[in-house]
Amino acid sequence: MKLLEKFKIGDLELKNRIAMAPMTRSRANANGEVTDLTVKYYVQRASAGLLITEGVNISEQAIGSPFTPGIFTTSQIEAWKKVTNAVHDAEGLIFAQLWHTGRVGHSIDKNGNLPVSASVIAIQGQTHFTSQGPKEYETPRELTTEEVKQVIQDYKQAAINAKEAGFDGVELHGAFGYLPNQFLVDGANKRNDEFGGSIENRSRFVIEVMQALVDVFGADRVGIKLSPSIPYNGMIDSDPNALFSYLISELNKLPLAYLQLMQPMFPIDAFPTWPTDVLTTFGHLFNKTIMVNGGYDRDKGEEEVENGRAHLVSYGVAFLANPDLPKRFELNAELNAPDKNSMYGGGEKGYTDYPFLAQ
Ligand SMILES: Cc1cc2nc3c(=O)[nH]c(=O)nc-3n(C[C@H](O)[C@H](O)[C@H](O)COP(=O)(O)O)c2cc1C
Repeated sequence: MKLLEKFKIGDLELKNRIAMAPMTRSRANANGEVTDLTVKYYVQRASAGLLITEGVNISEQAIGSPFTPGIFTTSQIEAWKKVTNAVHDAEGLIFAQLWHTGRVGHSIDKNGNLPVSASVIAIQGQTHFTSQGPKEYETPRELTTEEVKQVIQDYKQAAINAKEAGFDGVELHGAFGYLPNQFLVDGANKRNDEFGGSIENRSRFVIEVMQALVDVFGADRVGIKLSPSIPYNGMIDSDPNALFSYLISELNKLPLAYLQLMQPMFPIDAFPTWPTDVLTTFGHLFNKTIMVNGGYDRDKGEEEVENGRAHLVSYGVAFLANPDLPKRFELNAELNAPDKNSMYGGGEKGYTDYPFLAQ
């Protein structure tokens, strides 16, 4: 199987083309430090060609949900070192996904501070899961131009910290409605400084963050995840074709490790002009490594790497429930079923107790 073949990204040797997609599991402690259970969780999955961590908060301001880990304090960095060391001992590779949630949060879990965003526009028609149960979204506070530049510095510092923690690289979470995505789409960004207005201006935040990450990690060590056709969290753009074509063409000029493109996973019938297959629409604009994600199984993933549209396939739920996913693909073995109730929060159950294939 092509999915099981090795793949090189610069000097990184991936042992197969199967990545673990980033997944928030909400099992850090109250200080945003990962625990020994998280070490076990990632080591169990180290047979992936590349592990991408759950979203990791780059700063206090970035936090959107309780019990998500950070990488902005010394103790958080020390905690991640245990993960990276153990994954490397298991001959795995691991990137940290850098996360700023922007307006996808609530003051209840932010010491009373309002969430920040590109503009003063709240998410409509959804609730946020807080430590006090589901709550309506608040209208966020708009970041000043100076603050936007500070957030870019926060990403840079998080990359420096990730390097110190021993990660092989970092991925910018540019998908699913979080802060970078909030800058991109014109439904959430009404700014009139250099970070708003034209497509070039709305893309500036993401491009400057990516440049800052590359400045820290160098070539072939920085990836980005984008979800051009996902309207979740109020990500409505008037012309995603034009926006993401420009952005991806600009990203192609940077020495990136990969572009992770997430397929539409929500109904988009209300948006007839939106791409229904983001690989077809945008893949040809990026001539480095392409990782595809979203709803892939063994055979559909194999087909994408066979036909050359993608080099890597990332699996979320399937990897969550099957620590030995590459082995199961190799043997075409049955997969464990995921348990939805234990995806976010809790302990071992639904985290480190999914069975491996019997030896
Ligand atoms: C429990 C859970 C948590 C997730 N957390 C994140 C996250 O922190 N960052 C991210 O980019 N995507 C996150 N995702 C989305 C996955 O990375 C992936 O895009 C999605 O599950 C689709 O891939 P799949 O069909 O292979 O599961 C999460 C998905 C799940 C199921």
